[in-house]
Amino acid sequence: MEKILIVDDSEEIRKQLKWGLSKDYSVFLAANPKEALSLFTKHQPNVVTLDLGLPPDENGTTEGFRCLDNILKMRPVTKVIVITGNDERENALKAVQKGAYDFYQKPIVLEELKVILKRAFYLHKIEEENSKLMSTRAAMGGMVGQCLEMLDVFSVIRKIASADVSVLINGESGTGKELVARAIHSMSLRKDGVFAPINCGAIPENLIESELFGHEKGAFTGAHIQVQGKVEYANKGTLFLDEIGELPTHLQVKLLRFLQERTFQRVGGREDIPIDTRVISATNIDIPKAIKEGKFREDLYYRIGVVTINLPALRDRKGDIILLSNLFLRRYSEEFKKRIRGFSPSAVDMLESYEWPGNVRELENRIQRAVLMAESSMIEPQDLAFTDEPEKRGFSAARAVTLKEARDRLERDLIISAIDRHKGNIVKAAEELDVSRPTLYDIMKRHGLFHDYSTYRQQDKKEKV
Ligand SMILES: Nc1ncnc2c1ncn2[C@@H]1O[C@H](COP(=O)(O)OP(=O)(O)OP(=O)(O)O)[C@@H](O)[C@H]1O
Ligand SMILES: [Mg+2]
Repeated sequence: MEKILIVDDSEEIRKQLKWGLSKDYSVFLAANPKEALSLFTKHQPNVVTLDLGLPPDENGTTEGFRCLDNILKMRPVTKVIVITGNDERENALKAVQKGAYDFYQKPIVLEELKVILKRAFYLHKIEEENSKLMSTRAAMGGMVGQCLEMLDVFSVIRKIASADVSVLINGESGTGKELVARAIHSMSLRKDGVFAPINCGAIPENLIESELFGHEKGAFTGAHIQVQGKVEYANKGTLFLDEIGELPTHLQVKLLRFLQERTFQRVGGREDIPIDTRVISATNIDIPKAIKEGKFREDLYYRIGVVTINLPALRDRKGDIILLSNLFLRRYSEEFKKRIRGFSPSAVDMLESYEWPGNVRELENRIQRAVLMAESSMIEPQDLAFTDEPEKRGFSAARAVTLKEARDRLERDLIISAIDRHKGNIVKAAEELDVSRPTLYDIMKRHGLFHDYSTYRQQDKKEKV
């Protein structure tokens, strides 16, 4: 039976409602805010009737409103019906503004109230189903988007998911590459197999080969046992090669051979091991350019990218910013049990005019933080934390620096401090910065830092041997 909580300081009313509603609902009764909250926490009823004049403020409304706030904070989906005195229309409307579902004026006519309650339970059920649907938007692996570019992406995903072709996903950091890869996997015939991600840019160069292909016992010092690599682990599933642009050249050859023959050998092994896996790769670098520069093999590029998907940067799909913001707002208000209704108009302006260098990931992080910080029922600009350290933020308008300058400056500062922190150990600095060593060298070169750190580099080389 559905549960209902009746909060009223009049014993007579409590009795009346208990008697009138027990046939249809399991009824809990509270005479004051304290009882109300403890019963509410314990039983989590979907519908509550709430008298506003509660002790110790029987003739006012402070206790009632506070109780309403607390209930909605704990469970925003609760349908609260506020019961008011005869000429308290103003309070009733205020309650609805604060998030009450409806109000009802005394004296209580049981048959009337029953109709209201029935509707409240019904609505609650629909909303719950709806939000389940939203949260299991498994249809597209939880991805949302309504701009043409994203609709295009979704349609490509639908078309290719079940065809076992290799897919290369291009996009700036934080645009959703991994989400796309997972969506393809979950919509494919391999969905019951594993999704095995490996980040080629984050693993030190000397370890990638055995991470990918595994090794035999005794293959090198320290190889005490035989170990399976990601390729083997991904058998019957999907192998996700993240940051494939960072894969060292000799491994590009080995990967290519694997993709052609569908067999491979563990490091230090002789046996050809057949593997049935689909390969999805992602990159945030311009691979055709890397090919021209001799850093990426053209034949591998064609193998991994039978289909390519380009994810637009968030600043190029402004129409999706508010949609995504609301998705994250719902997600985190639920997680942090905060009742937040939306964004203030000036917060919306800010969200839409910001450049989002970190794309959807940055948006998600900012909204998460804002939900935590928000003090009212609306997200305000200050909750989004755009204002501190403006020169390091991505705003382009009315600042002395351009976005590119700001980004470069931040990048340069981060690199210098990471290298200093690791006393010039580039391998460790690269690890901390989550890029490969060659990439770090490239970026350092671009910033003219290479020269400053050339002594460090020698040290780095020595360490590697
Ligand atoms: N269209 C979308 N709808 C909902 N959430 C999204 C969408 N795109 C990205 N996200 C969310 O943004 C975050 C970053 O996405 P993801 O990790 O897939 O990006 P990425 O391109 O792989 O980033 P990186 O290059 O930094 O690894 C994730 O939490 C993801 O759930
Ligand atoms: Mg990623």
